This record gives sequence, structure tokens and C-alpha cells, in this order.
Amino acid sequence: MFRQAFFYSLLLLSLLFRCTGDESLPEVTDSEEAPMGKREREALFSAIQGFVGDSWNGSSLYPDPCGWTPIQGVSCDMYNDLWYVTDLSLGLIYENSLPCTSSLEIRRELFELNHLRSLSFFNCFLSPMVIAKEDWINFASNLESLEFRSNPGLIGKLPETIGNFTKLKSLVVLENGFNGELPASICNLKSLNRIVFAANSFAGVIPNCFNGLKELLILDLSRNSFSGTLPSSFGDLVSLLKLDLSNNLLEGNLPQEIGLLKNLTLLDLRNNRFSGGLSKNIEKIQSLTELVLSNNPMSEEDMMGIKWESMRNLVVLDVSKMGLRGEIPIGLTNLKRLRYLGLNNNNLTGFVPSEKLEALPCLGALYINGNNFTGELRFSRKFYEKMGRRFKASQNPNLCQPFETIISESHKHLLPLGVKPCT
Ligand SMILES: *[C@@H]1O[C@H](CO)[C@@H](O)[C@H](O)[C@H]1NC(C)=O
Ligand SMILES: *[C@@H]1O[C@H](CO)[C@@H](O)[C@H](O)[C@H]1NC(C)=O
Ligand SMILES: *[C@@H]1O[C@H](CO)[C@@H](O)[C@H](O)[C@H]1NC(C)=O
Ligand SMILES: *[C@@H]1O[C@H](CO)[C@@H](O)[C@H](O)[C@H]1NC(C)=O
Ligand SMILES: *[C@@H]1O[C@H](CO)[C@@H](O)[C@H](O)[C@H]1NC(C)=O
Repeated sequence: MFRQAFFYSLLLLSLLFRCTGDESLPEVTDSEEAPMGKREREALFSAIQGFVGDSWNGSSLYPDPCGWTPIQGVSCDMYNDLWYVTDLSLGLIYENSLPCTSSLEIRRELFELNHLRSLSFFNCFLSPMVIAKEDWINFASNLESLEFRSNPGLIGKLPETIGNFTKLKSLVVLENGFNGELPASICNLKSLNRIVFAANSFAGVIPNCFNGLKELLILDLSRNSFSGTLPSSFGDLVSLLKLDLSNNLLEGNLPQEIGLLKNLTLLDLRNNRFSGGLSKNIEKIQSLTELVLSNNPMSEEDMMGIKWESMRNLVVLDVSKMGLRGEIPIGLTNLKRLRYLGLNNNNLTGFVPSEKLEALPCLGALYINGNNFTGELRFSRKFYEKMGRRFKASQNPNLCQPFETIISESHKHLLPLGVKPCT
């Protein structure tokens, strides 16, 4: 109340003065105009125009881009009393952001914005284009975050000079058309917290150089064509939380060093060609909540070899399509947080510990189909009601369903499909 009254009296006062036409008042400098260097402003306009097209007139639409006419996707910061652009996001990032034109050009002015800390391109490069490395080196000493997302036009190798971007904390290269090998120079980037190279066409072996990346939390190389074995230097990524190497052509044994990743919560190796059995050391990663190893020809591996009960934080365990043998280890039924258990399409035998599995309080999906289990399924009707289609037991020729579980004809649909009645 008081402040408002104060404000009105000031306004009134100034109107009074104006009305009296007092010429002695000092000229009010327009304090709202942000001090931004002309060069910086023009470089920004020209750089953006190169991406969105010539019809975009920055100086008329956004005369004060770091002040009262902000541009979507542009942030600024002040250095020595002048505004500089620090974050620039190009492409369809927000609903109302400007799309990149198909005839875009990367203008030299982009590289004059040398205070940039974060630069990202989303859905921008649609027609084929190779990133020329020469100019990008201008960003090497400042950039902390670099993202290329969903740019199918970005093809060719990732330039070796990426290794000169030594301030990078986050490098996201997701869903583009990059191919060839990863440059080993990425291992120079000791400040990295996050590396995402998912869904490109990268190939060749993963460089064995991770020993310096002590700050790395996320490493996602999924959905590429990486081949060869996992380098032992993975064991040096001691702070890693998420490791996703799924959907590649990786082969060989899991390195024993994987057990050194004590903080790992996600390990996803599905759809590769890993063989040689489950590493005993997996059980040492007690922080794991998601372990997904499905569709790797581990062949003839006995699940009993692992102390499953020691991975007591597991929420998702998928070991389907691995050629696993032996019985369901009873240790699995001690994993009280388990929500998803995929044992399907292996060569597992013996009885299904129905009561113990049913007692898992969080279990919401259980797949045991495509094995060689024997005996009776002893889950309750309540269990089948809860699970619905998220329970599968078919393709176990020696398994049967006792019919006392389902009393009335109207509940017959709850029976697991493809399991014969016990005689
Ligand atoms: C952009 O707008 C400014 C100010 O309105 C004007 O002077 C300039 O000619 C325009 N440029 C183009 C290329 O249309
Ligand atoms: C990039 O880094 C490499 C290795 O540290 C160095 O030899 C090279 O001179 C750097 N290139 C530029 C353009 O700074
Ligand atoms: C692992 O996580 C713990 C707890 O969050 C943390 O204190 C520790 O520093 C982490 N270890 C490494 C090697 O980052
Ligand atoms: C399952 O194991 C049996 C007996 O060892 C073997 O004959 C059969 O080929 C195996 N099946 C698969 C799909 O691995
Ligand atoms: C399934 O297990 C039985 C023994 O319980 C064995 O006789 C049979 O060969 C196995 N079938 C396959 C396909 O492995």
C-alpha cells in the first residue's frame, strides 16, 4: 500500500513538473536500453538470419535482444558492463521458435559470438551438410554445452577438433547422421559430465581412452554401429551413473572392470553380440536399478552363478534372449524393488517359484515364456488379475496350469495364454 502510494506521488510529481515545462530538469538517459556492443548485436542478427532466412529482420523485430525485446532461444550475460550472448538455441526448440530454413548458411558472424557457453541445434540441419571444423575452434575455449539433436542432415565424421573444447561439460550428439569412428580426442574433455552420441551412424571400435573422465555421469552410445569389445578403461569411469551401449554390434566378454562402477544405476547393453557369460562382477554394482542385457548370445550361462540378492536396488532386470541355462535363482526373489523381470526366451529349466515371485510387492511385469520350465504354475487368480498381459508363460512345453486357480468359466480369460491345463 505504502509503496504504491509513494509511486503515485512520484508519478504525479513528475507530471506536474512536465506540465510546468521546467527546462532545468536533466535529460533522462534511456536507462532501459541495455548496453550491447553494436558488433555483438549485428553478429547475432546475422548469425540467426543465416539459419532462419533473409526475411527475418532482427534489428526491426528485436532492437534490444539482451534487454526488453528478448529473442526466444537467446540468453545474455554481462561482461565489463556490456551484454554478450551466452546461450544460443537454433531450430524448433520451443513451439514458437523459428524453424531453420532448408537453404540455411552458417555465417561467419556466428563464430564472432565468442562468449557463447551453450550452443544447440534442434531439428535444424535437414539437408546434407558436413560441419567444417575450422571456424568452430573459436568456441573451443568457452563452450560448456554443445548439442546437436535431430539433425538428419549432419553427416560425416565428428571433427577431431572436438577434443579442443576443453570446457565442455555436456556434449549431446543425438539423432543425427554422423558416421565413422569416434575421435579419441573426446577423451581430452576432462570436464565432461555427459556424453550422448546416441542414434547416429557411428561405427568402428570405441576408443580405449576413458581413464581421464573422472567427472562423467552419463555415457550414452546407444543406437549406432559400434563394434569390437568393450575397452577395459570403462572401469575408470568411476562416477558414472548411466551407461547405455544398447543396439550396437559390440562383442566379446564384459570386462571385469565393470564391477568398479560403484555408482552405476543404469546398465543397458541390450541388442549387441556380447558373449562369454555374465560377468560375476555385475553383482558388485549394488547401486544398479536397471540392468538390461537382453538379446546377447551369452549362451550356456547358468544364472545360478550370480548372487542376485546383492543387487537389492534393482527395479528392472531384463536378461531375456541370452541363451541362459539353469533354474531361476532363488536370490532373484529377494529383490523387493523389482517391477520388471524378463527371463523369457532362454533355456531355463526347473520349477517356477510362483509363490515367491508373487510375493514381490512391486512386480508389475513378469515374462518367463520361451523356456523349458516344468511343473505347475502356482500363481493366484489375484496375481493374474494384477498382471494381465504383462505376464507371459507360453512356449514352455512341460509347464502346466492347475485349473483350480480359476473357478468360474467367466474368469477363464485370466489364465495365462498358451499354458496347458495340468492333467
Ligand atoms: C530491417 O529493419 C530496419 C529497421 O526497421 C530497416 O532499417 C532495414 O532496412 C530492414 N532490413 C531489411 C533487410 O529489411
Ligand atoms: C587442438 O588440440 C591439440 C591437442 O591438444 C593441439 O595440438 C592443437 O593445436 C589444438 N588446435 C587448435 C586449433 O587449437
Ligand atoms: C558415488 O556416489 C556417492 C554418493 O552420491 C558420492 O559421495 C561419491 O563421490 C560417488 N563416487 C564417485 C567416484 O563419484
Ligand atoms: C537348451 O538346452 C538343451 C540341453 O542342453 C539343448 O539341447 C538345446 O539346444 C538348448 N536350446 C537352446 C535354444 O539353446
Ligand atoms: C526340456 O527339459 C527336459 C527335462 O526336463 C529335457 O528332457 C528336454 O530335452 C528339454 N527340452 C529342450 C528343448 O531343451
